[in-house]
Amino acid sequence: MSMSELGTPLLHFSLFFCLFWPMVFSALPSNQSKTMITLYKLLNSTELSWDITEDPCSWKGVTCSGGNSSVIAISLSGFYLSSSDFLPLLCQIDSLRSVDLSNNDLTSIPDGFIKRCGENGGLELLNLSRNRLQGEIPDHIMDYRNLTLIDLSVNKLSGSIPDRIGDLSKLEVLILSSNKFSGAIPQVISSIATLKRFAANQNNFEGSIPSGITTFLKNLDLSYNKLSGSIPSDMLLPSTMETVDLSYNRLEGSLPSKISQSMVRLRLGSNYLNGSIPSGAFGTHEKLMYLELENNRFSGLVPPDLGSCQNLLLLNLAGNNLSGALPGELGSLSHLQVLKLQMNKLIGGIPVEITQLQELLSLNISWNMLNGSIPPAISHLQNLVNLDLQGNHLSGVIPNSIEGMDSLLELQLGGNQLTGEIPRMPTTLQIALNLSTNILEGRIPDSLESLAALEVLDLSNNKLTGKIPPFLAETRSLIRLLLSNNQLSGIIPKFGPWVTFDVTGNKDLINARTPVTSPKSVEKGRSIAVALVIGFAAAALFAVGVVTWLAISVSRRYYRVNDEEPQSAEDLSQ
Ligand SMILES: *[C@@H]1O[C@H](CO)[C@@H](O)[C@H](O)[C@H]1NC(C)=O
Ligand SMILES: *[C@@H]1O[C@H](CO)[C@@H](O)[C@H](O)[C@H]1NC(C)=O
Ligand SMILES: *[C@@H]1O[C@H](CO)[C@@H](O)[C@H](O)[C@H]1NC(C)=O
Ligand SMILES: *[C@@H]1O[C@H](CO)[C@@H](O)[C@H](O)[C@H]1NC(C)=O
Ligand SMILES: *[C@@H]1O[C@H](CO)[C@@H](O)[C@H](O)[C@H]1NC(C)=O
Ligand SMILES: *[C@@H]1O[C@H](CO)[C@@H](O)[C@H](O)[C@H]1NC(C)=O
Ligand SMILES: *[C@@H]1O[C@H](CO)[C@@H](O)[C@H](O)[C@H]1NC(C)=O
Ligand SMILES: *[C@@H]1O[C@H](CO)[C@@H](O)[C@H](O)[C@H]1NC(C)=O
Ligand SMILES: *[C@@H]1O[C@H](CO)[C@@H](O)[C@H](O)[C@H]1NC(C)=O
Ligand SMILES: *[C@@H]1O[C@H](CO)[C@@H](O)[C@H](O)[C@H]1NC(C)=O
Repeated sequence: MSMSELGTPLLHFSLFFCLFWPMVFSALPSNQSKTMITLYKLLNSTELSWDITEDPCSWKGVTCSGGNSSVIAISLSGFYLSSSDFLPLLCQIDSLRSVDLSNNDLTSIPDGFIKRCGENGGLELLNLSRNRLQGEIPDHIMDYRNLTLIDLSVNKLSGSIPDRIGDLSKLEVLILSSNKFSGAIPQVISSIATLKRFAANQNNFEGSIPSGITTFLKNLDLSYNKLSGSIPSDMLLPSTMETVDLSYNRLEGSLPSKISQSMVRLRLGSNYLNGSIPSGAFGTHEKLMYLELENNRFSGLVPPDLGSCQNLLLLNLAGNNLSGALPGELGSLSHLQVLKLQMNKLIGGIPVEITQLQELLSLNISWNMLNGSIPPAISHLQNLVNLDLQGNHLSGVIPNSIEGMDSLLELQLGGNQLTGEIPRMPTTLQIALNLSTNILEGRIPDSLESLAALEVLDLSNNKLTGKIPPFLAETRSLIRLLLSNNQLSGIIPKFGPWVTFDVTGNKDLINARTPVTSPKSVEKGRSIAVALVIGFAAAALFAVGVVTWLAISVSRRYYRVNDEEPQSAEDLSQ
């Protein structure tokens, strides 16, 4: 740094700054230094942790360029700022390119800020995300022709997107998520050739999706709106497309048969889409990782060529009207972690190929019309956490091999036609073991005692005989026990007050006569206990609850793939 570079700004210092600003060596022009000092005083310096004795270019959130000779970016993210009075001052820094005011409590954008900010070249990045801002998008934003990024997400902005947005011919990222915007998505969006990412999810947008909207885009999120009409036939085709989320709208008509090879994630769930899932639409899509078409009106077959999408992690076709057999080709999806096919009209058996899905964490084929028996090879699914086959026409015995499924936390086999005795179960079971509404017989096996973490056990509506084993009343983790409508006999053990249980419909069961417990309350559920017992039980339950919660949250951490993401904002990870 030469003497003249240092000297010029120093000579400009007024007496004011000599008194209030100790010797600071900064290459900033005096007017910018002065503005920064005034800003320091106006803002809450405790929160900012700015050191006034240092060069403003070293302050947290301040970025300079040109050998620290001009301030180009200021980030005041997460400083609890509620008054926007400082914004016009900030804008006096004529070299400013980037303003990040996200995560504050600002309610308005003063006119002066929007009219002239960073006059020498204008703003390029503007992040006002997560403030509770109201009103419409300020028209003056559109004067900043050099803007490349606008993030207005998670505010209370309303009105429609102005057509003048098309003037921003350098815009690359436009995020309007989680506001109260309404009206149609303007056609002009599709003419911004630089726009790569457009997110307008969680608003009240309506009307149809403008044609050509994806011509230049890579990421589009229009989920959670009120969009109607059909998906333009060429919409999913552009070779730049990587993620499209149109879920939770009112879209109808069919799924376009041509889908970009570059697509990584396609979410169209919870619309009114119908017709078949075109065979060949997903043939050689090697990049596709997430395909979510659930809760629509798709009919016809599950296309076997989905088995060629080698990198699929998540396949969700649940809640449609899909029929025919479950194609064994799905067994070649070697990376698949979540398979959801529940609530369709699938028939035939469970193809043994499905048991090759080594990475599978969750399998839900419940509420279909599958028949035949559960293949013993199901135990090859060594990573499976949730297995749900309830509500089908499955028959035969529960395979003994099931005991070896060492990751299983939940087993739902209720509502089938399973016969034979209850085999040994995986000791990892925790969320639920539900064998209800089958034709199971024999005794409640003593082996269930080893399920020390189990919370819900439903064996109701079977043909079980023998006694209720006393350990069921002693298992601390068990909070729901359903044994109704069997052929159980003997004395009902005394259950702790933390257990909700139902043993009705077993005509040979006898209540133990105890003075503090009326027979009715034993049968109907929570027994009445003295306050001390309840207090103890509540403490025990709390302890169990905490342990359970910990265990479940740890186990759920394995879910790298989850199709029920928080609705609060667009997933930014893709
Ligand atoms: C700040 O000072 C620089 C020279 O140091 C000058 O070019 C610029 O116009 C000044 N800006 C304002 C807003 O006064
Ligand atoms: C600055 O923040 C501190 C701590 O949050 C608070 O006590 C103080 O009132 C704030 N001052 C101003 C001027 O907002
Ligand atoms: C600019 O300021 C930063 C922060 O004080 C410092 O780390 C950096 O070395 C400075 N750069 C130049 C070129 O002086
Ligand atoms: C805007 O700021 C928020 C909060 O700091 C951040 O999460 C988000 O990524 C930023 N937006 C963009 C588009 O970078
Ligand atoms: C955009 O940037 C260029 C180059 O920095 C500059 O000449 C022009 O004035 C800027 N336009 C606006 C509207 O600020
Ligand atoms: C799909 O729904 C539309 C109305 O949204 C209807 O006109 C069409 O016949 C339906 N197609 C099929 C195959 O059900
Ligand atoms: C479901 O598909 C069957 C043909 O497989 C058809 O008869 C029926 O109307 C469809 N139901 C709905 C609600 O679309
Ligand atoms: C399963 O159902 C299909 C028709 O839906 C039938 O052809 C087949 O015989 C059934 N298999 C068994 C084992 O019941
Ligand atoms: C499977 O799907 C059904 C129906 O949507 C749902 O009720 C059940 O909780 C799901 N099972 C699992 C293990 O997630
Ligand atoms: C067990 O499964 C049956 C049949 O699917 C279902 O009706 C019942 O609600 C389930 N029990 C529990 C406790 O969730």
